[in-house]
Amino acid sequence: PQEDGDTPRRVVLADPRSYCAGVERAIEIVERLLRDRPGPIYVRKQIVHNSHVVADLESRGAEFVDELDEVPTGSTVVFSAHGVSPAVRAAAEQRRLEVVDATCPLVTKVHAEARRFTARGDTVVLIGHADHEEVEGTLGEAPETTVLVETPQDVARLEVADPEKVSYLTQTTLAVDETREVIEALRARFPALRGPGSEDICYATTNRQDAVAAVAQEADVVLVVGSANSSNSVRLTELAQRLGTPAHLVDSARDIDPDWVVGARTVAVTAGASAPPWLVEEVIDALADLGPAIVSEHSVATEDVLFALPREVREV
Ligand code: F3S
Repeated sequence: PQEDGDTPRRVVLADPRSYCAGVERAIEIVERLLRDRPGPIYVRKQIVHNSHVVADLESRGAEFVDELDEVPTGSTVVFSAHGVSPAVRAAAEQRRLEVVDATCPLVTKVHAEARRFTARGDTVVLIGHADHEEVEGTLGEAPETTVLVETPQDVARLEVADPEKVSYLTQTTLAVDETREVIEALRARFPALRGPGSEDICYATTNRQDAVAAVAQEADVVLVVGSANSSNSVRLTELAQRLGTPAHLVDSARDIDPDWVVGARTVAVTAGASAPPWLVEEVIDALADLGPAIVSEHSVATEDVLFALPREVREV
């Protein structure tokens, strides 16, 4: 129920939202393999961090595993969008697995930087969240000489071999504003600090954060569609909250507590890069069920990024 009867509530969709090019590519890879290859298709880890995407592909025959020892020798295995360490690639080769790599090209870029910085003798400071699969993969490029930091406080505690030879990299899905603070702390401690040629935080992460910031300012509450283990979705929720607007991460429309929107004149909706557009549609429908609504979109950027599929699944 709305406070003032029939005045429709505004539902403002942040744009860009939902799938990024790396997620679309990863899902398409699994779909094509399921369609074109007879044998079972194994996927190491969640292909992207969304429970609905994983459940859907599972229902169509994909076998999700945590580690490669669960994959029978000689089978086809897909590496998830988050990337893998060289140790995982070696293990796949040893088991004679047929690898189809769905690592996002923008994650691959960070791996290449990790190798380049390590080759010139630097300590690599990786800014990211411990235990995230992407971070595990990037750390694996040079585990001996890479250190992980999450906060400016972590930077204060850092010990490095040579303060003149320090470079940094970041996870692709961090909060832009928080990461800036960590980089400033690093630069204050290590004035010779070197970074990547272009930002590691990817275009999709940046655009979704810009878009949610724009709509959060005009909204009474923000709903972010995404799974709890989706880094970029969690960052969208936190960013809206930092801007002073109540925000909730919902895995689907079913998670919406009607109390959140009681009395809200404007509800903003966005979705993380791994959350499918149809979940957003369901959220819009659920909001309409709670009272009359006028839906509009607030766009801050246009995205035209497209990544080529790997050779193994390209049509001939
Ligand atoms: Fe890639 Fe960024 Fe999406 S790193 S998978 S384009 S969130």
